[in-house]
Amino acid sequence: MSIHEKLERLAELRRASEQGGGADRIKAQHERGKLSARERIDLLLDEGSFVELDRFVTHRSTDFGLEDKKVLGDGVVTGYGTIHGRLVYVFSQDFTVFGGSLSEAHAEKIVKLQEMALKNGAPLVGLNDSGGARIQEGVVSLGGYADIFLRNTLASGVVPQVSVILGPCAGGAVYSPAITDFVYMVRGTSYMFVTGPNVVKTVTHEDIDMEALGGADVHASRSGVAHFACDSEPACLSSVRELFEFLPQNNAELPRPGRNDDPPDRQDERLLEVVPDNPNRPYDMHEVIGAVMDGGRFYEVHARFAANILVGFAHLGGHAVGIVANQPAVLAGVLDIDSSDKGARFVRFCDAFNIPLVVFEDVPGFLPGVAQEHGGIIRHGAKLLYAFSEATVPKVTVITRKAYGGAYDVMNSKHIRGDVNLAWPQAEIAVMGPKGAVEILFRKEIAEADDPESAVDQRIEEYRHKFAHPYVAAARGYVDDVIDPRETRPRLISALDMLRNKRDSNPARKHGNIPL
Ligand code: HXC
Repeated sequence: MSIHEKLERLAELRRASEQGGGADRIKAQHERGKLSARERIDLLLDEGSFVELDRFVTHRSTDFGLEDKKVLGDGVVTGYGTIHGRLVYVFSQDFTVFGGSLSEAHAEKIVKLQEMALKNGAPLVGLNDSGGARIQEGVVSLGGYADIFLRNTLASGVVPQVSVILGPCAGGAVYSPAITDFVYMVRGTSYMFVTGPNVVKTVTHEDIDMEALGGADVHASRSGVAHFACDSEPACLSSVRELFEFLPQNNAELPRPGRNDDPPDRQDERLLEVVPDNPNRPYDMHEVIGAVMDGGRFYEVHARFAANILVGFAHLGGHAVGIVANQPAVLAGVLDIDSSDKGARFVRFCDAFNIPLVVFEDVPGFLPGVAQEHGGIIRHGAKLLYAFSEATVPKVTVITRKAYGGAYDVMNSKHIRGDVNLAWPQAEIAVMGPKGAVEILFRKEIAEADDPESAVDQRIEEYRHKFAHPYVAAARGYVDDVIDPRETRPRLISALDMLRNKRDSNPARKHGNIPL
């Protein structure tokens, strides 16, 4: 065979490897509102940047008639390319080939990428569309999953890992995405569950369909398993690209500064009005974030799960920051089980990847109640406390209004290594709110008063005067300054510039024991 004939054969094989399960199956995939594995990669990566690896890999199974059914690539397209010009590794499961199921060979392709990502310090994005373990391969396929889980764990906190769920994701297969940093889902086409509706029906007699059991909305709002629920695959992949604007390549790098047209000294008049005069009235913390961050832009993570706390990324003076903010518009911004989990996981991500934390605080305390106590609010609240305490990235806090009780300590207080803690003049920093405090301290006096209501009002007024302001904390240096709300943006930018070379560390140890 001449070299030309050999090249022709190579071209033929390459073309074959790009057919996946064939035109009919790709058509069926499109009819379901799903893209092919390669179309997804094209939307995720910078145009023309994808370089494929292992396109000639096939399975080695000789059981259940699989010996004659070999498809080049074996149901997963793997390789590397760029997002915003920077290296990322990507695998994309091909549902048109054996339902994207995971064989030994398929797993080996993913493991190879995971090891490259770890060795070369670049993120890994997994596009998941798979019927799970390849049934014909039995335990070998289960072993393949475990090989992937191990690498997910070893890469955690070293390189960012993103999972995009674009089809069924059942059984143990959900645990690789669950170990990764961010999970994206698409409404109507992607599902995650340990056991599907049929098994649920058999075991618990509950009748439920795929969408209601494990669809994008339920995971993005109730279980918290998914960080993002998108309307379509193109919108989802575009959102993943946006996430990468805020991330470094690995834990040894800083996020790359973005372009910034927003003046660092910009002051926003809206910040004077955003907190209502009545301390019991809610307001939307998004307004504060929007008025302070570059271009008013906030890439919110976990937007619909535990909405009483906001987490997400923004740029401040051109530098990426992670924002954690109480949300007075939802449950008065109280901390509960889910918001503690949500905040803690985000804080740990930012700390692992050198992204400074900016905290906006307006928190009346932890949510009281039997359900919260019995659900383990102590254990869960401790996660957020632990996460803020151990974080060594630059950490700044702005108290916009309430900072009461244990929640004052938890929300990146000075005592747990907050670097710069600022308060607005409306800040109220105390053990508890005026009404609760007065009812405890003056119960007897109030009960014996001729006019209990006015006795309460009078004591509340006294309490407010003594405690419901930021100046006791400021007199101790627990807040570094009380600022005009309009100055928030320049003051935060200045604080973060000052902290740019911060060095802090935790005691040497194998690892801490965060209360899980
Ligand atoms: C081998 C599989 C497969 C699998 C699907 N296929 N799943 N082949 N192993 N796990 C094949 C089908 O035989 C079919 O081939 C093709 O893929 C498309 O599947 P359909 O069933 O026709 O598609 P659809 O109706 O869309 O249903 C998709 C599905 C369903 C919901 C994913 O296929 C399904 O329930 N599959 C099994 C899911 C599962 O229980 N997996 C094991 C989970 S346990 P043909 O040639 O007929 O078109 C697990 C353990 C993980 O994963 C280990 C970690 C600890």
